[in-house]
Amino acid sequence: MSRFTDQTVLVTGGSGGQGASHVRAFHAEGANVVIAGIDVERGLALAQELGERARFVRLDVTDQAAWQAAVADAQDAFGGLNVLVNNAGVQNPPAPIEDTEKARWDNILEVNLTGTFLGIQSATPALRRAGGGSIVNIASTMGLGGTAFYAPYVASKWAVRGLTQTAALELGRDRIRVNTIHPGVIATPFITEPAAGAAAPIADFYSPDPFAIPRLGEPADVTRLLLFLASADASFITGSEYVIDGGLLLGPALQPA
Ligand SMILES: NC(=O)c1ccc[n+]([C@@H]2O[C@H](COP(=O)([O-])OP(=O)(O)OC[C@H]3O[C@@H](n4cnc5c(N)ncnc54)[C@H](O)[C@@H]3O)[C@@H](O)[C@H]2O)c1
Repeated sequence: MSRFTDQTVLVTGGSGGQGASHVRAFHAEGANVVIAGIDVERGLALAQELGERARFVRLDVTDQAAWQAAVADAQDAFGGLNVLVNNAGVQNPPAPIEDTEKARWDNILEVNLTGTFLGIQSATPALRRAGGGSIVNIASTMGLGGTAFYAPYVASKWAVRGLTQTAALELGRDRIRVNTIHPGVIATPFITEPAAGAAAPIADFYSPDPFAIPRLGEPADVTRLLLFLASADASFITGSEYVIDGGLLLGPALQPA
């Protein structure tokens, strides 16, 4: 399948984890891909590996000027922009609210929420110029409820939902669709490596065994949903939220003794 031939896709945090899976899949389906992020070495390596139709651009998603430059780069290199994936994200080290420093709170909100806001704002003129397009924001199942010791992360992902719905309302008439994906626990450095300031990774204390599909999610699981949402197959879907968690939110799948 080549659902994205002649289309240009920008993926933030696209050099590793889920982002790299998304980049590879869009590229395989014919897209021009812009790998946008702060991991320069891995981003350049992935762009080089993919070759034609792939480029890396340095983008800290909290930097408004860098956003303008990244979108301009995509347009200059490939003639336009059709899809934006706001995938970059950071998690806080686990801590109760009363022990969470304001600087930590600010940083998580800045990357996960303000970064997504700046992405939507910066990409909108280019998407409109292309005659429409798709924005997909990566939130989290943690954005659908409370999770003790993750207040900044949880709050940032909840807020992405409101931002998504508002953008969907504002941009629908421009044929720009805006949707959210809520991954559950996905096997990436996000859970296999400790967050900045944390002693242990989530993978050390999380087990998928009690849940309906007793395995960790793979980046490719999320990628398949993302490509559907970004494609013309989803042309009547906007402002929607898709959970992909193997049944995590259902709670434990109790087995008879
Ligand atoms: N892995 C999970 O279990 C899980 C679950 C739910 C949601 N998510 C979300 O999925 C998204 C991707 O995470 P992942 O699992 O691939 O983890 P990851 O840590 O591998 O990827 C995060 C990416 O964001 C980039 N990034 C961080 N700060 C940035 C900044 N200021 N500017 C630009 N890029 C920046 C990192 O360099 C990295 O490439 C994140 O938004 C995360 O919150 C992950």
